[in-house]
Amino acid sequence: MRAPQTVTVHPAPRVRGRVRPPGDKAISHRYALLAALACGRSEIHGYSTGGDCASTLGCLEGLGVAVERLGRRPSGLTVAVTGLGLGGLRKPDRQLDAGNSGSTLRMLAGVLTGHPFTTSITGDGSLRRRPMRRVIDPLERMGARIRSDDGRPPLTIEGTAEPRPIDYAPEVPSAQVKTAILLAGLHASGRTVVREPAPTRDHTERGLVTFGARVTREDGAIALDGRQPLTACRLDVPGDISSAAFWLAAAAAVPGSELVIEHVGLNPTRTGIVAILRRMGARIVIEGDAVEGDVTATGEPAGTLTVAHESLHPVEITPDEVPGVIDELPVLGALATHGGELRVTGARELRVKESDRIASLAEGLRNMGGEVEELPDGFHIRGTRRLRGGHVDAHHDHRLAMAFAVAALGAEGPTTIHGAEAAAVSYPDFFQVLESLRA
Ligand code: S3P
Repeated sequence: MRAPQTVTVHPAPRVRGRVRPPGDKAISHRYALLAALACGRSEIHGYSTGGDCASTLGCLEGLGVAVERLGRRPSGLTVAVTGLGLGGLRKPDRQLDAGNSGSTLRMLAGVLTGHPFTTSITGDGSLRRRPMRRVIDPLERMGARIRSDDGRPPLTIEGTAEPRPIDYAPEVPSAQVKTAILLAGLHASGRTVVREPAPTRDHTERGLVTFGARVTREDGAIALDGRQPLTACRLDVPGDISSAAFWLAAAAAVPGSELVIEHVGLNPTRTGIVAILRRMGARIVIEGDAVEGDVTATGEPAGTLTVAHESLHPVEITPDEVPGVIDELPVLGALATHGGELRVTGARELRVKESDRIASLAEGLRNMGGEVEELPDGFHIRGTRRLRGGHVDAHHDHRLAMAFAVAALGAEGPTTIHGAEAAAVSYPDFFQVLESLRA
């Protein structure tokens, strides 16, 4: 746990400059897990500097995987992971700790389903409140025995050397659930199929292909034959579009602003934020080949985004758009306070993220003088009057700490963010970068 940090953010006349966000969190987790299951030593460049991805490496080390930390830049770490091959992880001699990271816990539960020993995984107070039945149910059908605290962590997972393949349709669209099932299915003999209720981020599918496996996709069904060996490789993680989202929103919010954001991952399952910001009024130019998705060596497209302020329009985000921008909804809400308007429905999932993001966002923005209507499955924010500023609580939630900072840029007075240390879960340098962009 990091020491509590309180940060005061002052209004900004405008933001300008260039920024390179840290490596993508979702992709980093997957590359580390796949590298651990591959044969040989993989080198990962641009690995997320955030605490969540450090939790994944720590858990893998607890399972006998050799991890070398070779270098650190704000844009990412270089790490080497020497894999133990499918089913090759070793029984840990202690409880594993996923920290704040739901991705680590849920995806690792899939991996451990294919290992014939018992592992207990816990997490921090926020993670221990999050729902895990969505992975427990399919993984038990695949042969794991999982004990939990009434569907919440800690999870004690007894895996098997012979997991059963399944054909499964999750109730909620969730890339973490899809990934857990596919990673368990990788250890099974036979074909595992996941039928998504709505498309979610496809980094696992792309990552599996990068490591040499064959994955097929048809009409929302992802199929993977088990027991395909993975081969170690060299990987480059693009910048995190969910972290870039704070800069996109900051430039869109403050008149006279323009930011250039370099080497941003542009996987089409993650670029919903760009489409919505454009609808809200932002001017965004995507450079070069990246418009079509410049596929890098890793199968993940990346490019440079230039974003400039224009006056904001009212926007509605419909339920079918939600899975594509689920992590960006808090900052889009913050942007709406700068004279825009945003109504979101079909986003009940926000209530079970690192915090209840609907309640926490509404509380914080109201403390700053915002006009927020809380809906059971979303929110409605009207930016008709300028925020005053004030005191807000990030509720141990990284995306809220950073979203409040974006809202604060347009307030009349300063905003003090309590629990600002949470930002380090995905973006340790966020508040320093923010100060460097004031112009
Ligand atoms: C993630 C998937 C999403 C997202 C989370 C990261 C992933 O969660 O909110 O931050 O890396 O697969 P769900 O799969 O639970 O929707």
